[in-house]
Amino acid sequence: MSDAERQTWDQRYRELGATTREPATWIVAQKEYLPAHGRALDVAGGTGRHAVWLAQQGLDVTLADISTEGLTLAGQVAETARVTVRTLQTDLAETGLPMGPWDLILCSHYLDRDVYRQFAPALAPGGTLLFIHPTIRNLERHDRPGRRFLLAENELLTLVTGLTICRYDEGWSDEDRHEAKLVARRIMT
Ligand SMILES: C[S@@+](CC[C@H](N)C(=O)[O-])C[C@H]1O[C@@H](n2cnc3c(N)ncnc32)[C@H](O)[C@@H]1O
Repeated sequence: MSDAERQTWDQRYRELGATTREPATWIVAQKEYLPAHGRALDVAGGTGRHAVWLAQQGLDVTLADISTEGLTLAGQVAETARVTVRTLQTDLAETGLPMGPWDLILCSHYLDRDVYRQFAPALAPGGTLLFIHPTIRNLERHDRPGRRFLLAENELLTLVTGLTICRYDEGWSDEDRHEAKLVARRIMT
């Protein structure tokens, strides 16, 4: 199952090649919530559009993804941008989130409800979660991603627990996707 997943994404990234993708507009707009320094994890970060942006903001970034092709491209994108991004090839569905604590976790367009439940314990006290994923209402305008890859309306709030919500919103993005968007913090202890 996970090997099939890896092969699917490897193939997709081989076709894509070294295309530079911009970080999501909404993610960039959350800059004020980023820690000034510390360890950041880009969950299923693909070819690194967000990992590179986080590194440019001064964070020590690890990008975890199942696709070796994606990680190779991410390495190239980081090199071109003259920043350092650590890459970690892993099947998050099997291994769970890499060992924290993380000062920032960014999760964009990756659906795994079990992984979402690991956000709170993996964050350092005071650490921040930035999250963005399409909801079922995205089907009103787009056939893909299919239903099984989408969140139900307001479902995210039932999955991400143990964190203080700084902002939560569902709506159409600048990229014409209907997304659940969350910024949350682990309380200082
Ligand atoms: C839709 S892409 C999103 C990429 C990136 N987060 C972004 O927003 O550009 C989904 C990513 O999840 C990765 N992925 C899928 N299943 C995975 C798994 N079980 N473990 C780790 N990564 C996985 C894929 O390789 C792909 O890079």
